[in-house]
Amino acid sequence: MDSTPHVASIACPTCRCYAQCAEIERRYGAELDRNGDQYKLLQHEGARPPSPLRRCANALFDRELESMRGQDVLEIGCGRASPFTPAIVRATRIRYVGIDTALPRRGIPLCERGTIASVVNLPIRALNRWVLSPSVNTYHRWKPGPRIYHVRGRFPHPKLSGRTFGVIYASNSIEHWHEDLPGSSTAAPTSSPDEGIAASVDRYRADVATCHTLLAPGGRLIIDAPIHLHGNGLFFRGRLAEIERLFTHLPWSDLRFEHWRRDTGDLRRYLPLDVAQAPTGTGEAVVNLWQLAVIARR
Ligand SMILES: C[S@@+](CC[C@H](N)C(=O)[O-])C[C@H]1O[C@@H](n2cnc3c(N)ncnc32)[C@H](O)[C@@H]1O
Repeated sequence: MDSTPHVASIACPTCRCYAQCAEIERRYGAELDRNGDQYKLLQHEGARPPSPLRRCANALFDRELESMRGQDVLEIGCGRASPFTPAIVRATRIRYVGIDTALPRRGIPLCERGTIASVVNLPIRALNRWVLSPSVNTYHRWKPGPRIYHVRGRFPHPKLSGRTFGVIYASNSIEHWHEDLPGSSTAAPTSSPDEGIAASVDRYRADVATCHTLLAPGGRLIIDAPIHLHGNGLFFRGRLAEIERLFTHLPWSDLRFEHWRRDTGDLRRYLPLDVAQAPTGTGEAVVNLWQLAVIARR
């Protein structure tokens, strides 16, 4: 039985982050005009303001966090900067599993000061990497109550089979799962806009089906990904119909596609210079990057 999706536009003026986005544009609009929307070049008191798509992902996470309270949560592609910090996991009593090839290390915090740091940090890094991080991770595997357990590797992974989760969350990750295929942003420019699309659909359909299997009845899949920014051709080229069909062929009890900042209202569109100049292979000019969220309930 196929699922019928609900498609919703999350227009910027209706978003909980609107005031923050408007304030960032008020402060940095002129500089962004000059540097071609390159948020990574902005500096403000030692930090850089998050890009518009990062703010969308943050707003989605904030909206959904409370509904994850007390649940078994799997994060696919957690990277080194997951929003599931120890403080958040403790406060929400989540039992968290994160999977990625690049995981944060745990153990003794690194020394941040001066030349001594390079000397002192060498043994600390080695201790964290080979002893403390694996020990803490093993402890968290069995620890009762809230915990953070990591699986090093790519999704799908044998260590996850047979388990079920109340929530599977993947932020800015799915577009990278198959960026080795032709047609992705990292591949050489292709001769045909369809190159790699059929293979991508096959691989992603299998991944999404695995997510469905790993969810407990009533469990939710929460995914967000940028459209036109980078990654596998489905996402980089904005092949929305194919992306939707990765999900609709499964029997979800509820399926929702949300288009974040596709309608920017009175905020600026987002199109960094390097992306604007990258060939998409479709011949169509991209005018605005936006964020797709998929919320599916088993
Ligand atoms: C752009 S980073 C995003 C990290 C984090 N979710 C965030 O929003 O900051 C994408 C992450 O996905 C991971 N990744 C790519 N393919 C993966 C796969 N098949 N399984 C697990 N992680 C994957 C990469 O290693 C990388 O850490």
